[in-house]
Amino acid sequence: MASRFLLANVLHRRGNKISNWTLGACCYHMDVGSAELGSDARVIDMRSDVLTKPNKRMRQAMADAVVGDDVFREDPMIHEIQAKVANMFGMEAALFVPSGTMGNLVAMMAHCSNRGDEVILGDKSHLFLFEQGGIAQVAGVHPMPVINRNDGTFSIKELKSKIRPTDDPHQTLTRVVSIENTHNFCGGRVLPLSFIEEVAEVSHEHGLIVHMDGARLMNAAYALDRPPLDLVKKCDSVSMCLSKGLGAPVGSMLAGTTEFIEKTIRCRKVLGGGMRQPGILAAAGLVALSEADMRMAHDHEIASKFAKGIAKIGGSVIEVDVPAVESNIIMLHVVKEGLTSEMFCQRLREVTEEESRKFKDNLTKVVAGPWSTTCVRGVTHFDLSHDDIDRALRKFEYVIKEFSDSL
Ligand SMILES: Cc1ncc(COP(=O)(O)O)c(C=O)c1O
Repeated sequence: MASRFLLANVLHRRGNKISNWTLGACCYHMDVGSAELGSDARVIDMRSDVLTKPNKRMRQAMADAVVGDDVFREDPMIHEIQAKVANMFGMEAALFVPSGTMGNLVAMMAHCSNRGDEVILGDKSHLFLFEQGGIAQVAGVHPMPVINRNDGTFSIKELKSKIRPTDDPHQTLTRVVSIENTHNFCGGRVLPLSFIEEVAEVSHEHGLIVHMDGARLMNAAYALDRPPLDLVKKCDSVSMCLSKGLGAPVGSMLAGTTEFIEKTIRCRKVLGGGMRQPGILAAAGLVALSEADMRMAHDHEIASKFAKGIAKIGGSVIEVDVPAVESNIIMLHVVKEGLTSEMFCQRLREVTEEESRKFKDNLTKVVAGPWSTTCVRGVTHFDLSHDDIDRALRKFEYVIKEFSDSL
């Protein structure tokens, strides 16, 4: 078991308060197959959609890709994906970057030209919680959090109150407002279009730039049954990951004005993100984009099936807010006294002797992330089938029964 996970368990047993983000980060690091019993069990890994592996079409496209040096701006596949994404978002230009973290970081670097410039962002946003404070430590950008509601939005009144005056030398200057869609920490919630519009209106009134961290923007667009363009048209820049539910092995896209993208090319280079023949990755990204709708439909369908299944079997142990499952992330709440999310997740990953006898060669382990002391995050993706979800539900039912009898 990974040391960070152990640490979280030990701290919890000692009664230390573990904040949400501590466990949220821990959930990425787990040994999925070390238990002796059930070493032949089927492992259903629901930790994240980043686990998707490139499919045959992607691998073939990578093999066939005609490439060139992208620092010299001579890679045809990179040109193709950048033009495609710019067009998809109705923006002037786009840039291929190695990761979502780099996409957000170069966006902030390019938007905030003075050290100490400020970005207003949700207190549960990925940019604030899980990107190592890169905007501060690398870019000299000051984060100003506003409280994220459970649905990933925040109060417009609070947003207004956080915008700095421009005539007070004691204070830094607000430059950017960043929103996240879908909202990871809030359980894949989809931002209402009206919220995006309101944020943009207030921000633009104050001369501020609106950035959307759309790592899972295609999930949001699918959930709303709208083209991605409709979700970003009021935004000045957007980042979107190719390597999450879309299934590409590497890469994120950033889009905005030509002037902005030119600045981000310099920022990407200083971070070491200028790549030589990345067209091989763009080729997989183009396949991922062409499969987006099919993938989103699948991922959302099985997420909903899983949530509804848990709602039926959760009893007094696990609860789920089914209508809040709007995309491919499912937040499960451990409600049984004395049971923690770590205990529950640990048990899901094990096979007991009794289980081994009962299910013989049809054993299942489920890997899901303890997200806080009482919350478990499950994420669906294209490498999970309907059958996997049925098996996962059977495993949950078995473990839930065990805990409801034993605690
Ligand atoms: C909302 C959001 N933004 C950004 C990122 C960072 O993406 P990457 O892991 O590619 O750096 C993630 C990763 O999970 C995310 O969920």
